[in-house]
Amino acid sequence: MSESTRIKIFDTTLRDGEQSPGASMNIEEKLRIAHELEKMNVDIIEAGFPIASIGDFEAVRKVAQTIKGPEIAGLCRSNFKDIDRAWEALQYAGERGRIHTFIATSDIHMERKLQMAPEQVLETAVAAVKHAVSYTPNVEFSCEDAVRTRLPFLARMVEAVITAGATTVNIPDTVGYAMPFEFFNIIKYLKDNVPNINNAVISVHCHNDLGLAVANSLAALQAGAGQVECTINGIGERAGNCSLEEVVMGLRTRRDIMPFTTGVNTEYIHGASRLLSTVTGIVVQPNKAIVGANAFAHEAGIHQHGVLMDAETYEIMTPESIGLNRNKLVLGKHSGRHAFIDRIKELGYDLPKEDIDKAFVRFKALADQKKEIFDEDIDAIIADEVIRVEERFKLVKINVTSGIAAPTAMVEMAIEGQIRQMTVIGAGPVDAAFKAIKELTGTGSELRQYIVGAITGGTDAQGECTVRLEENGREVLGQGSHEDIIVASAKAYINALNKMASVIERTSITI
Ligand code: KIV
Ligand code: ZN
Repeated sequence: MSESTRIKIFDTTLRDGEQSPGASMNIEEKLRIAHELEKMNVDIIEAGFPIASIGDFEAVRKVAQTIKGPEIAGLCRSNFKDIDRAWEALQYAGERGRIHTFIATSDIHMERKLQMAPEQVLETAVAAVKHAVSYTPNVEFSCEDAVRTRLPFLARMVEAVITAGATTVNIPDTVGYAMPFEFFNIIKYLKDNVPNINNAVISVHCHNDLGLAVANSLAALQAGAGQVECTINGIGERAGNCSLEEVVMGLRTRRDIMPFTTGVNTEYIHGASRLLSTVTGIVVQPNKAIVGANAFAHEAGIHQHGVLMDAETYEIMTPESIGLNRNKLVLGKHSGRHAFIDRIKELGYDLPKEDIDKAFVRFKALADQKKEIFDEDIDAIIADEVIRVEERFKLVKINVTSGIAAPTAMVEMAIEGQIRQMTVIGAGPVDAAFKAIKELTGTGSELRQYIVGAITGGTDAQGECTVRLEENGREVLGQGSHEDIIVASAKAYINALNKMASVIERTSITI
């Protein structure tokens, strides 16, 4: 086989991923994810869209100031104001700061959205790239909706922005429309028809509307692309983006037929997936490739037998390669602090002592009630005690009576530091609790979805609740867990209200 080509992994979980409905993250959460990506050793972290809001700007600035190793990208439209604002946030990353500017190039986008002639779009793109280059040589240009762009125009655009100084040119499948052979041909066409193509890295950015984002990205690499844009768990607009774990593990597993490598430390994949799911409330489907709960579970007896004889009979990659430990012991009430700390490290959490202390107290309390503590229980504890820090609204006490007589909830909350209490009758105990919380907080969000489930099996399992709220077109997901499902529900609702408050605060300017 020929020598391997090193492919760059550009992670856009914090930008395109955050555009998933309900996935908004605050600065602290974005920093946690960025640290995970830093450990994973991705090449580029796209931290946000600085002009989109004060919150986005601050997040990009903080990531640029804090993260060492990966390059930090910030997105901007092809205008000077966006580019200036992006660099204002990115400058702290120095040479690792990357300006990522874009404009649409398909006829439908140019005519209907931009209402600009192709020549005008070309001139705007060139001017934007030149302006970006005045700040840094590290400039990426994206031809939005490239897949539906006329190829001769796409080639002219790519050539012009490379001449203007772009060092990476991205070819997005913005609407997830391409077929793998078609996308291969687009990249090949550019390789064959753009005279200066070797002066820039070709990047690809595929959406998953037809479930082909990973397949299209792999096809593009075979045609000569050098960078893949992707997100953890494949989160992103609509059906999401190319999934980082799938493309990276695909390349790693099939090195025998694809001569590509990445710099990703794959043992951090599972931890990153869990953390993102906890932070955003977006649950990973059990049969999701690589990181789904069933990805390494063998149900059929014949498969189990085969795996016991030789794991390679039914496993094309090891669970350890993505950071899962096959032979873990289940923790319980006799497990001490050391075992607990070892397990949280294995799960990919890197917590300071005070956070470990808080989580350990809750672990001990749960172990008194529940015989076996599984990894999912530990995730829920860390999410509740460390990650979902309740800023504005906090649950202090809740007492519910239910049954045939009027279900009643007494809820006590700390609201911006002030203790308030209320007792409300509802159609059921959850309804009563939610009414009390809504009344106490004086919030106007609409409840769009309420899901309850058990984190593990058994009647002593912790209940987990997810709440989706909507307010003025903004959506958030909140989660809560507890042995008592009504408490879990109240926590999820309050978590969602806290997220909504912070989203409203951060999105003071919209695009
Ligand atoms: O999907 C898309 O086209 C994008 C670009 C802004 C890169 O996200
Ligand atoms: Zn996108």
